[in-house]
Amino acid sequence: MQENIQPVKGFSKLSKDAKLEWLSDKYLQDGDDTIELIKSYWHKDAKTQQLHDEFIENTITNFYLPFGIAPNFMINDTLYCLPMAIEESSVVAAAAKAARYWLTRGGFKAEVISTKKVGHVHFSWNGDTEKLQKFFNEIKSQLLASTDDITVNMRKRGGGIVDIELIDKTLEEPNYYQIQGTFETCDSMGANFINSILESIAKTFKAELANAKSFTTKEKEVSIIMCILSNYTPECIVRSEVSCKVEDLIDGDEMSHQEFTDKFKQAIRIAQKEPYRATTHNKGIMNGIDAVVIATGNDFRAVEACAHTYASRDGQYRSLTDVEVKNGMFKFFIEIPMALGTVGGLTSLHPMVKLAHKMLGNPNAEELMKIIASAGLAQNFGAVRSLVTTGIQKGHMKMHLLNIMNQLGANDAEKEKAKHYFKDKVVSVQSATNYFYQLRGIKNPNLVTKK
Ligand code: MEV
Repeated sequence: MQENIQPVKGFSKLSKDAKLEWLSDKYLQDGDDTIELIKSYWHKDAKTQQLHDEFIENTITNFYLPFGIAPNFMINDTLYCLPMAIEESSVVAAAAKAARYWLTRGGFKAEVISTKKVGHVHFSWNGDTEKLQKFFNEIKSQLLASTDDITVNMRKRGGGIVDIELIDKTLEEPNYYQIQGTFETCDSMGANFINSILESIAKTFKAELANAKSFTTKEKEVSIIMCILSNYTPECIVRSEVSCKVEDLIDGDEMSHQEFTDKFKQAIRIAQKEPYRATTHNKGIMNGIDAVVIATGNDFRAVEACAHTYASRDGQYRSLTDVEVKNGMFKFFIEIPMALGTVGGLTSLHPMVKLAHKMLGNPNAEELMKIIASAGLAQNFGAVRSLVTTGIQKGHMKMHLLNIMNQLGANDAEKEKAKHYFKDKVVSVQSATNYFYQLRGIKNPNLVTKK
């Protein structure tokens, strides 16, 4: 530990300015300049800034991510413009390109297959499983009734608890059982709703067990380990697909449609079978998914965790997309679990999140699932199409060019010249850097010359 830094107590109670001063003093060393930088990211409207400050604890400033838009997404015959919050240079461009490609080939067809969420009371109990099961069946209606006040509003909206069941897990862990709840949470992601219900059920379960007449003192003891929703929602699934005639797949003449189809199919087969490739393949899908999930104020960690568990549901990590070629038709699809909310959380608070929802026509949760699954499919199609044709670097580095020029301190005119120069050339950090110094008529200081 650095000598002048001691653990700090009660930090969250300090004022924002005091927190900044502490940070600057202990970790940043260059005082006013850094504080200025931090403050330059504050919103000019104090109320809006306060809103952001209150999203989390210890907010000192805001962290910008580009908010881009990808137009031309035809999904179930509605034309969407997708909001995407992402830092990676080529993602929005690739999404927009894939959307445009499929626009003239029928667009995306998406459907929600199921919408159930799950959560568990994890508990430890020592005794006869059959006796516990019988007891659980007897008190099931009390357990459900004990949550009535929490579920009343959700029931009015058409959701609530679908079922609760006792699950014997003692073969996996001694004395381990679960009460598994299944829920419909309508347009909310449902985390708070589910967790509150589970905690209430656990409390009632413990109390009922303590009063159970036919149970011994030992059998009346239960240790509630934890009550928590699962972010794995294999019964909350959305599917999106694109399809066209094989002969309509190719735009240019760099490859025949048959060669393209064969290579594309093989690329997907590789991602189905080879975890090294599957990970990158699915990462590309999540480029599109996360960007819209973030822009719409949803929990991208939950969506990510769930997608990857689903991708390994049969014991091996595999591609989330698949392809089928039959009777001259090419069909490319994704099936992915996704727990989203269009009410609650940040959705009615964060101004840009509200805007994102507005752009999408204020979709409900199921509509948003379809939109986001289509974004993932588009992103994956774009990536695999590039990979099996031109290679990924051509498009990627073209988009990265401005980052390289910015890093070198290029001005707007130099950036424009670079864009023009590299229109028909391959961009690399080296070639862009060389071009920049050449433009300025100075020697590249990083150039290593052989003696
Ligand atoms: C880069 O962010 C994503 C890709 O690597 C995805 C892929 O390889 O399929 C291009």
